[in-house]
Amino acid sequence: MKNIFKLDGKIAIVTGGAGGIGEALALGLAVHGATVVVSSRNQETIARVAEKISEESGNKAFAIASDVTDEASVQNLVDQVVKKFGRVDILVNAMGMNIKRDAFEYSMEDWDKLFAVNVKGTMVACKAAGKVMREQKGGAIVNLSSVRGIRGYTGGNSGYCATKGAVELITKSLALEWAPHGIRVNALGPALVITPGTKHIAEDPKLAAKYAAAVPMGRIGMPADMVGAVIYLVSEAASFVTGQTIYVDGGLTAG
Ligand SMILES: NC(=O)c1ccc[n+]([C@@H]2O[C@H](COP(=O)([O-])OP(=O)(O)OC[C@H]3O[C@@H](n4cnc5c(N)ncnc54)[C@H](OP(=O)(O)O)[C@@H]3O)[C@@H](O)[C@H]2O)c1
Repeated sequence: MKNIFKLDGKIAIVTGGAGGIGEALALGLAVHGATVVVSSRNQETIARVAEKISEESGNKAFAIASDVTDEASVQNLVDQVVKKFGRVDILVNAMGMNIKRDAFEYSMEDWDKLFAVNVKGTMVACKAAGKVMREQKGGAIVNLSSVRGIRGYTGGNSGYCATKGAVELITKSLALEWAPHGIRVNALGPALVITPGTKHIAEDPKLAAKYAAAVPMGRIGMPADMVGAVIYLVSEAASFVTGQTIYVDGGLTAG
């Protein structure tokens, strides 16, 4: 039986590829054979990440900066990838942010900023890469949702939860609309993952124990935990899977 998880010859873009989860996913894609283009706003950071991925995977990775809130910038990213490689087989939207605010005090400027990255950014990147995939008659997209995409949460997370709920329904809607073009669109829904932005939790034993206790498997997720589900979703192994979110959450959303 052939290896249905292999990504040899595939061209992948990872937006937010310099982030905690994005970097792990980009490395995972490269290790499984894909040529990876890492993207985020800071060229220096993504160049460093691409170099690291090239060294660790033995598969040369590339860095092209873009801002997902700017449609022209994302179009330029996709155009450059097509110019260099002739195609886009895989898009992983691992960019994202949170702005935590008490709901009574939530300024609509902050609300718009959050939606611009998490929601508009997801749509803009899907649209630009999706058009190339339509021409090719195939492709696979994975958007980063969260367990907060199906569950509300306290602690100033109303905006974040709303954006991730939107990501889930963008994912399902595009899956339906683009299925006739052979484009599969799925999402990954992590629970808390330790990344540079959340490492203060891991560093505080009491806080870490509190978060871990809420997870049936009794621990907090790491970026490497996210890789398997994404490799599955973008590979031939998931050739009949679209419009789904895989929650990689140690069982959190099972109950
Ligand atoms: N960590 C968690 O606990 C967790 C749990 C569930 C879901 N998630 C989701 O998983 C995704 C990745 O999370 P993470 O923890 O890895 O985040 P992170 O470490 O903060 O990384 C976010 C990435 O997004 C990029 N980014 C931010 N704004 C951007 C923009 N306007 N245009 C292009 N890139 C932009 C950042 O790079 P620049 O700032 O340099 O552009 C960075 O590479 C997010 O969607 C997050 O909501 C995370």
